[in-house]
Amino acid sequence: MSNLDDIRREYTLGGLHREELPDDPMVLFEKWMQEIRDANVLTDPTAMSVATVDEHGQPFQRIVLLKRFDDNGFVFFTNLESRKAEQIAQNSKVSLLFPWHPLERQVAITGVAEALSTTEVLKYFITRPKESQIAAWVSKQSSKISARQALESKFAEMKAKFSKGEVPLPKFWGGYVVKPSSIEFWQGGEYRLHDRFLYSRQDVGWDISRLAP
Ligand SMILES: Cc1cc2nc3c(=O)[nH]c(=O)nc-3n(C[C@H](O)[C@H](O)[C@H](O)COP(=O)(O)O)c2cc1C
Repeated sequence: MSNLDDIRREYTLGGLHREELPDDPMVLFEKWMQEIRDANVLTDPTAMSVATVDEHGQPFQRIVLLKRFDDNGFVFFTNLESRKAEQIAQNSKVSLLFPWHPLERQVAITGVAEALSTTEVLKYFITRPKESQIAAWVSKQSSKISARQALESKFAEMKAKFSKGEVPLPKFWGGYVVKPSSIEFWQGGEYRLHDRFLYSRQDVGWDISRLAP
């Protein structure tokens, strides 16, 4: 068995203090998102893990890209017939995780995923490069396929089909907004005395609790 016991380090970049927390977690999320982007230490700073569960309670996770966020929640785009979409249709409770470890941070979110309207999806779809638009038509995401060749020939077929004019939005392609019910901010601290603050949504505003590391 490979032993990784010796791989450890101290977290020393800084602390998170109660008095510096905004009432609104989205304000802190926006600040942290800006800081991880400015730090230029991650190739995909907007990548987040999305966890869903199947009908047996088995959790699944995968990375998607966060495309926008505001008071409504966190938006990502995907195939509406994918495994994740099927699981969300059964149980819309999801969890998101941003692993921003170069800054000794993580943000963990719980919430409910709601499908975006076609208008909202289209607004994003038309900003994608044409090849990505075509690829949306090509991949029956999460289904079993025989070989890569099948994908490539479908891509060539669709590329020819849509060579002129706009690529239409596939009806099986869309997005979700995750409406947060809790957002936890974790900042690594020396000697494993990390700072954790959990924002929990209330009828009005948010409750803020410090959690033990
Ligand atoms: C960096 C990165 C970004 C990704 N972005 C997306 C995305 O925005 N949307 C998406 O559907 N899949 C994205 N994927 C692929 C997913 O991780 C996943 O393989 C796919 O969505 C199928 O998941 P599912 O079978 O659980 O539905 C990305 C993967 C990586 C590694």
